[in-house]
Amino acid sequence: MATFTVNGQTVTCDKDTKKLLLYLRDDLRLTSVKEGCGEGACGTCMVLIDGKATRACIPTIAKLEGKSVITVEGLSPREKEVYAYCFAAAGAVQCGFCIPGMVISAKGLLDANPSPARADVKKALRGNICRCTGYAKIEDAILMAADFLKDGAPIPEKSFTGKLGEDFFRLDAKEKTLGTGLYADDLVVNDMVYAKALRAKYPRAKVLSIDSAAAEAHADCIRIITAADVPGDIKVGHLVKDWDALIAVGDITRYVGDAVAIAVTNSKDTLDEVLALIKVDYEELTPLCSPAEALAEGAPKLHENGNLLSLQKLKRGDAENAIANAKHVVSKHYSLPFTEHAFMEPECAIAVPEGDGLHLYTGGQSVYDERREVSGLLGLPQENVRVTSMLVGGGFGGKEDMSVQHHAALAAWLVKKPVKVKLSREESLKIHPKRHAMEIDFTTACDENGLITAVKAEIISDTGAYASLGGPVLQRACTHAAGPYNFQNVDIIGKAVYTNNPPAGAFRGFGVTQSAFAMECNLNLLAELAGISPWEIRYRNAIRPGQPLPNGQIADESTAMEECLLAVKDVYENAKCAGIASCFKNAGLGVGVPDTGRCVISVESGKLHVRSSAACIGQGMATVLAQMVCEAVGVPPALLIVEAPDTSRTPNSGTTTASRQTVFSGEAAVLAAKALRAELDKAPGKPMEEILQALEGREFYAEFKPETDPMGSDKPFPVSHVAYGYAAQVAELDEAGKVVKVTAAYDVGTLVNPKAAQGQIEGGIVMGVGYGLTEDYPVEGGYPKVKYGTLGLIRATDAPKMETIFVKRDGVLPAAYGAKGVGELATIPTAPAIQGAYYKLDGVFRQRLPMERTFYRKK
Ligand code: FES
Ligand code: FES
Repeated sequence: MATFTVNGQTVTCDKDTKKLLLYLRDDLRLTSVKEGCGEGACGTCMVLIDGKATRACIPTIAKLEGKSVITVEGLSPREKEVYAYCFAAAGAVQCGFCIPGMVISAKGLLDANPSPARADVKKALRGNICRCTGYAKIEDAILMAADFLKDGAPIPEKSFTGKLGEDFFRLDAKEKTLGTGLYADDLVVNDMVYAKALRAKYPRAKVLSIDSAAAEAHADCIRIITAADVPGDIKVGHLVKDWDALIAVGDITRYVGDAVAIAVTNSKDTLDEVLALIKVDYEELTPLCSPAEALAEGAPKLHENGNLLSLQKLKRGDAENAIANAKHVVSKHYSLPFTEHAFMEPECAIAVPEGDGLHLYTGGQSVYDERREVSGLLGLPQENVRVTSMLVGGGFGGKEDMSVQHHAALAAWLVKKPVKVKLSREESLKIHPKRHAMEIDFTTACDENGLITAVKAEIISDTGAYASLGGPVLQRACTHAAGPYNFQNVDIIGKAVYTNNPPAGAFRGFGVTQSAFAMECNLNLLAELAGISPWEIRYRNAIRPGQPLPNGQIADESTAMEECLLAVKDVYENAKCAGIASCFKNAGLGVGVPDTGRCVISVESGKLHVRSSAACIGQGMATVLAQMVCEAVGVPPALLIVEAPDTSRTPNSGTTTASRQTVFSGEAAVLAAKALRAELDKAPGKPMEEILQALEGREFYAEFKPETDPMGSDKPFPVSHVAYGYAAQVAELDEAGKVVKVTAAYDVGTLVNPKAAQGQIEGGIVMGVGYGLTEDYPVEGGYPKVKYGTLGLIRATDAPKMETIFVKRDGVLPAAYGAKGVGELATIPTAPAIQGAYYKLDGVFRQRLPMERTFYRKK
């Protein structure tokens, strides 16, 4: 028993062994305190204990006698006002899941040191991970807050037009900063019970029997669910339905994240106890741990159709001949690891039975994908399942697949009660698809002037146990392998191979992160052979408007690859030790795949409700839609309500993937807004209030559905994608090999919100630094060997200085006012730029990631 204060109120708790974090969240319902890892590694649970920033997932209640605990809810009104303003003004909030913890670390610092330097702020944030922002804007926010708190200056009144190009404050910045915004785990539903899956003991084993009698006899157990209880199709999977929601008796597991049974209990505290009582007999089988093993003759088939998920061939021109006749040729092999999204919010869903269906609250990347999967599993018409998105604490591609949603829905459907399923960080690391590990053989050739003449590559991706998005990821790795350059001889073959490793799927960069690394590293060696600088070789070959990209698509008038390179030229050429890389990335699914953005604007109670299912996974989708509508209608943002994705209210606008939402849902919003504008124009001079009264109840619907050409199209210049963004980055090292600065020039078309775009790029750069130098997800014999704290995520003290330059040509793409999307482009060039810098530093040409023998990894 301990008596202590929380935000000034005296509390007494007799649960001595309970963690403070769980007491604050479950007993006191303080939602600013987040559970990101539960193991002291992420800082989302930061609170002040006797004035010192402390992770609440570490101390138990017994340790708190006489102490004072402060959470964000306990800040003074002035502090709340200051932090909410400064985090919004600095553009420091993206997914928001880390932010209340950052605020607490800031308060701990500023209470002790009201005038900190940036280095002090970085040090104070050492215990807080942010996966979205790259830290710079959070540091800016804290320095700004220090000034306000010290000077007592009033918070400025801000008014926005909401138009394009304005640093309009994110609509969700305040609720995320103060911890009042609700993520799925913050939701509490009456009569809610809990469920958790028992995971496979072996990556590959036949399930001989499941005995759940002892578990069912546990006093707190409501039900044990197995595959036999599934009323509909047991297979899920957005593109390939190959993923068993539960492994049935007689079937074979494919990885250690497979679910074998689900326990439903009254209390979440008894879930592990009940799961431990389920007896499963297995016949252990030898796992296939690499694509080589899976493709070997006689290898067992992991799926009905064999172990080759996808074979991609991209051939244009005559690469073989061009290489044979080239002046210079470079051939290298690259090994790239699995990596983990490490979004800050572990997966969570709550399913509530409603009428003859259910209502699912989630934090995924597409409410319609979730609805389709869940209704299929339950054998229900899609209309009987409603899916509502709560705030999403980061995704980066890792929340596209089913993880918890289908299990929550199944359990709720069977026990007829609301059910919450939340993954622990350990489960999250094990279960959701990763960035693909790839083995790449890459040959690049050029003439005596350094003009590229050909690329030939073989890309083998380990797609793990299930397809997820492994097919399209491989396709993008292939279509972008030759880079944003002007040549036409390409011969690229890609294979995505099933293994018994954790599945791999979408991850920011979508395969391009890997193939661009190979291309960009090879280019530096070609430059050396041709006697020109790495900048020069990129500049000579950079794609320009009107030229065909290596995939045959003619670069449109907006293409500013050349301008990106010019913007970083001096930085690169004048730096003591720097590397450079270029890249391009599509917006939209492309290659002939149907792809539609949809939006409705409805007039309700004098407000314009902007309704689209485009998920905000941190990138600020609601703000993008608001700015598109403000621009097109010419009304202030105060008149808008941008609704969260909900299948009962918002039309299907596809998944947040492929950097597509700004272009697709953005253009749909613009079209809907223009239809509304036309109505407004029918009543010139009338006050807006009156016009909206007359339009009450009207809905303005629009969709954007551009066509693209499929892979292998016989058109001479197929249109693979609606738009491409371009980038060049320069990474500078100090003498010790520390990345001290990254300069990034980006062509993302028209800027919707410059600060938000810059925030995306900074976050992408820091993620790229991690990909290149520190992050890994080792898997041994099919078993992942990681904890959150060992993933190698970059902390504030290791993040480099960043400078972002936006470039643009006069040509503008016809959709979404010419915006092209930025999310994925941000990460791709960083790792190869750093590789080039290290090559310059010590002459060692590194061919595997994370790079070895660096400032960051001495191995
Ligand atoms: S939840 Fe406490 S440090 Fe991650
Ligand atoms: S805003 Fe920091 S983790 Fe998303």
